[in-house]
Amino acid sequence: MQLNEVTTYQDLDKHAWEELEKSIIYYQGYPVGAVAALDSTVDALNYDQCFIRDFVPSALLFLMKGRTEIVHNFLEETLKLQPKEDQSDAYKPGKGLMPASFKVVSNGVKEYLEADFGEHAIARVTPVDASLWWIILLRAYVVATKDYSLAYRDDFQQGIRLILELCLAPRFDMYPTLLVPDGACMIDRRLGIYGYPLEIQSLFYAALRASRELLIGQGNEDLVIAIDNRLPLLIAHIRQHYWMDFRHLNAIYHYKGEEYGKDAVNQFNIYVDSLPYHELARWLPKGGGYLAGNVGPSQLDTRFFSLGNLMAIITDLATEEQSQAIMTLVEQRWEDLVGDMPMKIVFPALENELYKSITGCDPKNIPWSYHNGGNWPVLTWMLVAASVKTNRTELGQGAIAIAQARLEDDEWPEYYDGTKGKLIGKYSRKYQIWSIAGLLLAKEIMNNPQHLPLISFNSFIAE
Ligand code: GLC
Repeated sequence: MQLNEVTTYQDLDKHAWEELEKSIIYYQGYPVGAVAALDSTVDALNYDQCFIRDFVPSALLFLMKGRTEIVHNFLEETLKLQPKEDQSDAYKPGKGLMPASFKVVSNGVKEYLEADFGEHAIARVTPVDASLWWIILLRAYVVATKDYSLAYRDDFQQGIRLILELCLAPRFDMYPTLLVPDGACMIDRRLGIYGYPLEIQSLFYAALRASRELLIGQGNEDLVIAIDNRLPLLIAHIRQHYWMDFRHLNAIYHYKGEEYGKDAVNQFNIYVDSLPYHELARWLPKGGGYLAGNVGPSQLDTRFFSLGNLMAIITDLATEEQSQAIMTLVEQRWEDLVGDMPMKIVFPALENELYKSITGCDPKNIPWSYHNGGNWPVLTWMLVAASVKTNRTELGQGAIAIAQARLEDDEWPEYYDGTKGKLIGKYSRKYQIWSIAGLLLAKEIMNNPQHLPLISFNSFIAE
């Protein structure tokens, strides 16, 4: 691949921008977000709504291009949707939760926004990531515009506070990570990620760091202390207990079980037979490693989840050494993790009996499709941002080259299928907006790395 391939494709960029413009949702005459997909060939279901998580790449791109108004409006309007009171009805969203998505509706006289907190979604899943992304995006807005006044406004301070109170509330478990149900994030279907999935932990960490920068004034002192207490524990927990490389694999292989008390080495009582050693020993390259998908009681999910790993690099949750090792893994296992489209949402797929029992026989999540080992173009921007952060830009350039050679001809699919991501996803939407924004954002970050601080953090210094 030639370096200049990354900067050419001007027509593609132009067309991509046109689609992105078409996707913008207006509310009372103002831009407030973007629909999830512009595919008129299939029933829209909720893809005509603005999803908080889907809008993040578009929003970052708008911020980098100086189009801050839409992000400002998005943050302001979504904040108004956040429940501010305790709910006595258990079927209603809890105080502080941000919706998964919203749409503009009109009663003939007036327009208003209608939110979905998961109560309309397929399988009624809870969007835990939406609240975390909202804080991360608010901080990106502040970094891009230097306009602290928005974040310092009372309603915004309250919004952050309510989300944090939800995340930091007393609970039954005693881990620094966040306990969530299955389908609580980008993977919004059953896929065996209940418990402490990496994606949520990476976003939780980033939201805590962002909140620490944004929270001010009286009334927030307790929360600031709570963040300062939680962050070092969370970071250490992830870096130590989620980390997977040869050394750790070997250590686990020799673990004893049933250790009682403080001196237990095998703290989570991982049963040695539960890990696919031979596959992992073959797959893990020299110098490579990654953060595992989930850690809980007698549970170590060794699947590689891209979003959590890449965000851990971008936001400095992973150590410098770990970040380099993750990128080495991506480089050495390029065919598995990138193949014909960046990038696998998770590797490997659940197959056979595991697929049946863990997904509940979900026909959309058959092996190597959709969430179960599909390739998602939106992840290109995170791979590129991680490559810039770690100075491994050749990997990001390779990813951009693969994505832009196909995406427009394929009409911007939501996801791809197959072990290498060759096939357009079986039930994939076309003109999926975060696939479009994901590529444009990837190129923007590659060409203008000075934008990276919108989404990245410096090394964590525990005070
Ligand atoms: C799918 C994805 C989810 C996304 C939604 C809208 O459900 O799994 O992450 O937000 O589509 O694009």
